[in-house]
Amino acid sequence: MILAIESSCDETSVAVIENGEKILSNIVASQIKSHKRFGGVVPEVASRHHVEQITFCIEEALTEANVCVEDLTAVAVTYGPGLVGALLIGLSAAKAFAWANNLPLLPINHMAGHIYAARLVQPLEFPLMALLVSGGHTELVYMAENGSFEIIGETRDDAAGEAYDKVGRVLGLNYPSGKEIDALAHEGQDTYNFPRAMIKEDNFDFSFSGLKSAFINLTHNAEQRDEQLDRNDLAASFQASVVEVLVTKTIKACKAYPVKQLIVAGGVAANKGLREAMATAIENELPEMTLIVPPLRLCGDNAAMIGAAAHIELQKKHFATMALNADPSLAF
Ligand code: KG4
Ligand code: ZN
Repeated sequence: MILAIESSCDETSVAVIENGEKILSNIVASQIKSHKRFGGVVPEVASRHHVEQITFCIEEALTEANVCVEDLTAVAVTYGPGLVGALLIGLSAAKAFAWANNLPLLPINHMAGHIYAARLVQPLEFPLMALLVSGGHTELVYMAENGSFEIIGETRDDAAGEAYDKVGRVLGLNYPSGKEIDALAHEGQDTYNFPRAMIKEDNFDFSFSGLKSAFINLTHNAEQRDEQLDRNDLAASFQASVVEVLVTKTIKACKAYPVKQLIVAGGVAANKGLREAMATAIENELPEMTLIVPPLRLCGDNAAMIGAAAHIELQKKHFATMALNADPSLAF
């Protein structure tokens, strides 16, 4: 049993995971309300909330899982990528808990955690492909085996979630706006013909800043001409572009590599349009492949996914010392 701690951004989360696949508890304390009024995550505010929440979250996770400290095998913690101040709170708590209870410490990469959330749904089969789409990342990751991550494509500019949040601001929506744009998109039609950047290029990379600019220009010009645009159609057109590019490039990657499974992970994997379009594309073009998209509560940041990834590190005995530091730009 692993006690896992996640505090890389704006959720304080602690989980207890058994054998890397069974969730005994997964406490998530969200700070979204505090950041909304600033239109984004304020690092200093995030750190202060983590300090306030972390001890309660640890206690609650142990209580809900109905385990005592003696039942635990190790403590796992996200040490990057993320906000340095936020990461340091989880890291300090994990180190203190591990040291006080004489437990080994497992250092976990947040993005690996997002991928391993799929392991909480069903067993993983390798080789596999993962589409990682979050507020800070958009990557296609080829995994030949457990613990092996090869980035075969990534965004050249904005991450998909970042594009959602920036466009949401133009539409006057609250941060983070992915969920709301997704809902509006389902009420509208793809009428504005936004560009599908890099869709035909012979690589697995993405670009979303051109789409964001096209969206801003269209709304700005309409405002100047006092012309009314349809919000639902704007959202639907923006989402159609993002989803088409993500699905096309991911299917192309799955055809180019000998993969058995496709995992879609990260905050943007909660997107209904993306989930539906990816499922249809896999069914039509690669029916022998299995698609794993974690349930919504495991797509956003949470410690259960960190516990799932940590089990692999435990088997490899990849322990950290008390000198472990936060690495805000940690890569695979
Ligand atoms: O993985 P995550 O919770 O945090 C990071 O590690 O970045 O991802 C947050 C991102 C935000 O940009 C948010 O707008 C986006 O995920 N998101 C969505 C949806 N739900 C959350 N984007 C599109 N559609 C959604 N339904
Ligand atoms: Zn995340």
